Amino acid sequence: MTLDRLSETHRSNAILEQSIYLYRDVLDLPDVPEPLYTVSGLRCVDRMRFRGYHNKALRVLQRMKLRLTNSVEIHNQMAVTYLILGQSKNAKESLLEAMKINPKNGFALAHYGFILKTEDHSYKDAIKYLREGISTGEPGTIDGRFFFHLGDALTRDGKPSEALQVYEDGVQRGLFLSVYQRSLYNEKSLAARPFWSPEQTTYSHYLKMLEDNWEIIKSEALPLLQDEDQGFFNENEGLKKKGTWKQFEMFARGERIDVNCMRTPKTCRLIENIPEAAYCRRGQVKFSLLLPGTHVWPHTGPTNCRLRAHLGLVVPEGPRIRVANDTRKWEEGKFLIFDDSFEHEVWHDGSSLRLVLIVDFWHPDLTMQQKLTLSAI
Ligand code: LMR
Ligand code: MN
Repeated sequence: MTLDRLSETHRSNAILEQSIYLYRDVLDLPDVPEPLYTVSGLRCVDRMRFRGYHNKALRVLQRMKLRLTNSVEIHNQMAVTYLILGQSKNAKESLLEAMKINPKNGFALAHYGFILKTEDHSYKDAIKYLREGISTGEPGTIDGRFFFHLGDALTRDGKPSEALQVYEDGVQRGLFLSVYQRSLYNEKSLAARPFWSPEQTTYSHYLKMLEDNWEIIKSEALPLLQDEDQGFFNENEGLKKKGTWKQFEMFARGERIDVNCMRTPKTCRLIENIPEAAYCRRGQVKFSLLLPGTHVWPHTGPTNCRLRAHLGLVVPEGPRIRVANDTRKWEEGKFLIFDDSFEHEVWHDGSSLRLVLIVDFWHPDLTMQQKLTLSAI
């Protein structure tokens, strides 16, 4: 423990590694009593994870499982490690083992429901497990992600009023900023409203510069649509209820995507003149194509640290966007600006394609320090 603390105060990886291996050595001691064995092993796993050694952590857990055959905690920790490694099938198996030992274990129930929702899209079963897990209130169950996905599963299962109750509960517990603003990576004290005017953003000059060039931007975007498989990719977060929604990314997480910018040099050059967008590590710059008949589920972006500006490039009659309880339409050559940490939903009931340029900007209330240090999303 002393080394472990020391590594935190000194932020030293060398000391952290020493403590990891000391904890692990405890597992090899002859006749080590079970409580010490358990605490050392779990602490070792925790520290390994902190260091990014997920496969090593898994091996320690597999070993521990042989001695602690009835430990729900070991299975749960294995599941968490598998989830971090992107192995959701294995994670599910570990959770099933945990629930075999204790069918009422909240941690296992909530995590199992989470995977059913996010990986399998089995909404009804996900609702059952998430609800039951959360209702235990056990450590690790009152987590924004569980409330977020329980509400979303209820929405998609056609139960909006039950979803609303979950969101209200989440707000009460301090997990969401508000019923509509459900982003989970948030900074404090940022102005929050669904739609923004150009003046409110403080970026009017940039927005006007892009509007002045909208036809040039459009002329770079249109030829990309001729190209069957390159550049435009289907939205891949499972947000679409029906139809076709594709995007062509030029900047993401504050970095320029060179292969794509080679095909849209003028647009990328324009964006490079806007540091608040080009270096917005919590956003993207992309073309977004929506075909008639598309409906995008109500959804919420990950963070309140960006504002999302849409420049209309090809806008027929028919498409519309709701943000919180305000529904608006795009216009060619004009920006529509919203905060996508608020729930939004999109329909296209027209008969020809809609194309916009999406530009994410750092939220204007962030300090320079925040813009330089916030993690990328
Ligand atoms: C979104 O950002 O969720 C949508 O508004 C994107 C789009 O193309 O309308
Ligand atoms: Mn969105």
